[in-house]
Amino acid sequence: MIPSIPPLDPIPIPAPLWLLKGLLWMTFSIHLVFMNLTLGGALLAAVHALRGKDRDRGVSRSLARMLPYTMAFTITFGVVPLLFVQVLYGPLFYSATILLATPFLAIIGVLVAAYYGMYLLARKWTSYGVWQGILAAMVFLLLGYVGFVNVNVFTLMLSPDRFHDAYLASPGGLQLNFAEPTLLPRFLHMLFAAVAVAGLGVAYFGTRRLKLEPEAGRWQVKNGATWFAAATILNLGIGGWWLMAIPQEGLLLFMGGSTLATGAFVVGLLCGVSALVLALVGINSVKPLPLLMGSIHALTLTIVCMVIMRDMLRDALLKPAFDVHAQPTAPQWVAIALFLTLFVVGIAASVWLLRLARKAAKEKASRGEEVNRGPGLTDSGLHIFSAEDSQAMRGGSSGDLFPRNPT
Ligand code: HEM
Repeated sequence: MIPSIPPLDPIPIPAPLWLLKGLLWMTFSIHLVFMNLTLGGALLAAVHALRGKDRDRGVSRSLARMLPYTMAFTITFGVVPLLFVQVLYGPLFYSATILLATPFLAIIGVLVAAYYGMYLLARKWTSYGVWQGILAAMVFLLLGYVGFVNVNVFTLMLSPDRFHDAYLASPGGLQLNFAEPTLLPRFLHMLFAAVAVAGLGVAYFGTRRLKLEPEAGRWQVKNGATWFAAATILNLGIGGWWLMAIPQEGLLLFMGGSTLATGAFVVGLLCGVSALVLALVGINSVKPLPLLMGSIHALTLTIVCMVIMRDMLRDALLKPAFDVHAQPTAPQWVAIALFLTLFVVGIAASVWLLRLARKAAKEKASRGEEVNRGPGLTDSGLHIFSAEDSQAMRGGSSGDLFPRNPT
């Protein structure tokens, strides 16, 4: 008989399971934060550019400038959990990617195209006129494709019993997982989460403008927090739909079947609702920063809880065919120490690079050159004021709050 899952590597898992799982949860949570900022940021950049008002276009331009940074971190922090997924679930992950080989391999080209689109948007914003929104929308669609294929792969790998027949039915590598009832709610949940996280980012960077540009900053806080709140409210419903579509053995896990899974579910839900309430209160607050910071922290905890839930669900659904906890382990401590050292050095190097980017923006501002004035990660917080800006804030009609980038 042909086994439904190829046999595991003869080499045992090279680190204790708790360590690999902890690292998987941590690095995948970071991947999700940056992925959400990139995917949701591209959508918000498109919508704001297409709205056409100066203040909308200012937010759009700043989001566009943020995308190449967040994209780089999305990919880097995608590679790390991929290593752990390969080590822990290799036979399942690779089988699923073979069934989906064509759309999965196309991800590389799609990511490169999206990257080009982002750089064009970030660097040549002023040259595109009405095409800015369309280009940002194309970037969003390309990234959405990557997310959709990933959801297909990571749901398909949970059904090893279908691998063999699916392959024989169509060996061409085009097996999208449309038969999976959780596919749509799972994808939509990720999509709306991306809009929510990007919206909260816009609101947060709006608070940094409050001191020097109170009216524009206030509008930005309100605008970003509204996107966050609307997407989160919708996501509460979509999350419920996803939960109901999960097979019973998975659902029971969150209803007391496992203390950790149930705890993650309850804490995640409470933190999600708290993040929503804090952002809504922040919309009309005179000092929204502490409330938005509370919202950001609560949302971060929600993401971590959802990552834990998602991983525990995977193990529960795979259990009859594959029990990761029963796999032999033989820790290679030297390799683990080397990995952890390089990991810490890599994070330190990233922080250093971001600081350099920030310093460069500050120096640009002090020389009187144009700096990013919106929600970009490179926003130095220093802004040049023109007479028109000040006039516009007092209610003047002709002021361009977001003058075009002369570069
Ligand atoms: C910007 C483009 C990307 C988007 C929009 C994206 C989106 C997603 C989504 C939606 C999921 C969850 C799928 C699910 O569970 O249903 C996911 C998981 C994952 N992504 Fe990304 N991703 C992107 C880029 C990457 C890259 C470049 C890599 C690696 C090289 C990567 C590695 C992973 C891994 C390993 C997981 C699953 C982790 C686990 O199962 O614990 N992603 N991604």
